[in-house]
Amino acid sequence: MAVNNEIGIGLLGLGGIGNQVAEHLLQHLDAVSSHLDRPLSLRRVLVRDTALPRAVTLADGVLTDDFNDILNDPDIQFVVEVMGGEDPAADYLKRLLDKGKSVITANKEVMAKHGPSLMEAADRSGAQLRFEASVGGGIPIIGPLQNDLLANDITSIRAIINGTTNYILTKMAQEGLDFGVALAQAQALGYAEPDPTNDIEGIDAAYKIAILGSLAFHTAVAPEQVYTEGITGMAAEDFEFAHELGYEIKLLAIAERTDAGVQARVHPVLLHQESMLAKVEGAFNAIEVCGDLVGPVVFHGQGAGAAPTTSAIIGDLVAAARRDGKSTTSRPWSKLPMKPMADLETQYYLRVSIADQSGVLSKIASVFGENNISIASLTQKDGDNQLGTAQLVITTHPAKEAAMQTALQGIKNLSVLHKVHNLLRVEPI
Ligand code: HSE
Repeated sequence: MAVNNEIGIGLLGLGGIGNQVAEHLLQHLDAVSSHLDRPLSLRRVLVRDTALPRAVTLADGVLTDDFNDILNDPDIQFVVEVMGGEDPAADYLKRLLDKGKSVITANKEVMAKHGPSLMEAADRSGAQLRFEASVGGGIPIIGPLQNDLLANDITSIRAIINGTTNYILTKMAQEGLDFGVALAQAQALGYAEPDPTNDIEGIDAAYKIAILGSLAFHTAVAPEQVYTEGITGMAAEDFEFAHELGYEIKLLAIAERTDAGVQARVHPVLLHQESMLAKVEGAFNAIEVCGDLVGPVVFHGQGAGAAPTTSAIIGDLVAAARRDGKSTTSRPWSKLPMKPMADLETQYYLRVSIADQSGVLSKIASVFGENNISIASLTQKDGDNQLGTAQLVITTHPAKEAAMQTALQGIKNLSVLHKVHNLLRVEPI
């Protein structure tokens, strides 16, 4: 039995989020405990260096640099993990769950790569695994997929789930900034990390859509099965031309279930300006879920930051302590086939620079024709006078990705082609 009948908590990590979680547990202990029949107690906090000064004041003996102090403490039943990264977090979580300790984690990389096996470990030991904070920060989306929407067959999820890239794209769209300038601003404001690779290359969003797709379709979607393209190829002109055509440009994470299998992808898209996702600005996130019964539902809010993430973690902690609707699943995982990216059928936007001379348009049009791709619109824009080039902005009717990639290669092979600037997919409203 726990000390004083308390609910003992261990915390792994005391960075920005860990600090806010610890502070909330200490300063609002009575309020949080009032949802439960016993008080909570933060017993141990794992850090790398116990000698470093900390923003939060913890009682003597709470800090430890030894994971075993948490793993082997019989009075700790719930462990919050906010260390981030795969190693050693994945191993720690597995060992905690095997030991029957319930885990609340914000770790998207671990959940994306190891979620199904950790859920099985939790099921085996009877522990709970909750991960609301791993996707969309403070936005409730894991709970709704596991509980509130479970009567639905989910057909699709379309989401803006990376605040850094949405901030950069919003700046580019509204202020005509180039990618590098917008990225530097995002870094100065602390949205983008000094090494922004995971955000701007779409990796962070791929982890998150792997988690959401796995839950929605109840089949394991691994991050490497998510087609992933980032936003580094975006230029100010793309926003100008997209706006003229009535679109915004967003980095979407999409998971769809079709008769041909599950498809998961992250890439920039042209979104009709009237669509709800097109209106999501700055560092905000939004997730649209379509279910057969409920239709489309949109969740919108702050997708990152210590306070929103703490909101999700404390909610999970209380739910776990109450054993509200167990977060893991005993329903067996199905093994749905993955639909390859080559089979995607969608509309495309292509911006190229070509030699500004007679006969060029017919050469481009021939390549599209040879690949059975129907052009929906074609506009010539100013190019570079000195180089004698013009820009073409082409949109297509729906076409297969495989055909579009073949056509792109054909266009690249034309002697009149100066440069392919961007190929973007157009997402239906
Ligand atoms: N780097 C992420 C984002 C937040 O920009 O949304 C953490 O998942």
